[in-house]
Amino acid sequence: MSDKTLVSVVIGSLRKDSFSRKVAQALIAEAPASLECRVVEIGDLPMYNQDLDDRPPEQWTRFRDAIRSSRAVLFVTPEYNRSIPGCLKNAVDVASRPYGKSVLDGRPAGVVSVTPHKLGAFGANHAIRQTFVFLNMPVMQQPEAYISNAGELFDQKGQLESNETRQFLEQFMAAFGKWIAQVSGGSEMETFDSFMRKRTEAARAYVNGDAGPLDRIVAHNGAASFFPPNGGSERGAKEVNARYDRDARSFGKGGETQLEVLQSASAGDVGFWTGFQSARVKMGDGSQPVTMKLRVTELFRRIDGDWKMVHRHADPMAEPVKRDDSGLRSERQPQSGAQRQSSQH
Ligand code: FNR
Repeated sequence: MSDKTLVSVVIGSLRKDSFSRKVAQALIAEAPASLECRVVEIGDLPMYNQDLDDRPPEQWTRFRDAIRSSRAVLFVTPEYNRSIPGCLKNAVDVASRPYGKSVLDGRPAGVVSVTPHKLGAFGANHAIRQTFVFLNMPVMQQPEAYISNAGELFDQKGQLESNETRQFLEQFMAAFGKWIAQVSGGSEMETFDSFMRKRTEAARAYVNGDAGPLDRIVAHNGAASFFPPNGGSERGAKEVNARYDRDARSFGKGGETQLEVLQSASAGDVGFWTGFQSARVKMGDGSQPVTMKLRVTELFRRIDGDWKMVHRHADPMAEPVKRDDSGLRSERQPQSGAQRQSSQH
């Protein structure tokens, strides 16, 4: 697995000979070795329409997955009428929905604005920053990057001619790399211990019907599995996540849960915890609260710098083996009715 920090580069122009794309390519070329930058295309994204939240076009899913799998996003945009082009706003809107599942949430951002005119496309640069406030995206403040006279910076082959601009882009990318690390908790990547606090918060939201925080810490590509408490198995990231989503929706508000960690460790890019999960949940149908205790093992992998859950095994806690008065061993059935009812958790 690569040690590099993956950065999605989103370009706000669909034009074949776009100056913004040329600047984006120059930024990628000048990026420090710690960053792996790749352009995520937005030209094929259907216009955002809330009616499609339940059956998203596959282009939306592709775009969201690409952003989700990266550590940070660099926006390189021209200015249209003192704001950002519609295609870029559409991409931001697509990435930000469905509500509560924004793939932009908390993701560090950088902005470079580009124009063949004067004024550096200042209006676009600050218009997109305005969206970051609501999107909860920390954005690098300094250095700012307003690229003016973009038509004079490149040769016929689209190569950057100006050394001064090249140096500036290099400084910008170096600062961006350091700043991503700083926002991500210093130069160190997030430790497994601090990640486990996030895991606990996600469990609390989950038993209150909100799968959003869990969605942000599960793998969305590649191998993933879930062995649910009522038997069977889900395999593949898509299937597992659909199941988590479905199960969370069966819970109403007012649930509580605790993780009791017996063992937990991480080495390199893998981590795990095993122990118990107790919960008192209200089902969405308004029935009486249900208590449950599960034996849980979860496995995690660090994917593109972030810890992601790749496996969860949860079984209902069996009643302990008891001796009856005659000294003969008897075993109780492992699941009570209440546990069965709530066993999708
Ligand atoms: C522009 N352009 C433009 N330029 C600018 O500096 N400020 C502006 O507000 C606008 N407004 C604007 C509106 C619309 C609809 C268009 C098509 C263009 C000019 C723009 O900077 C120029 O076309 C760039 O070449 C666009 O960027 P790309 O496509 O080269 O990256």
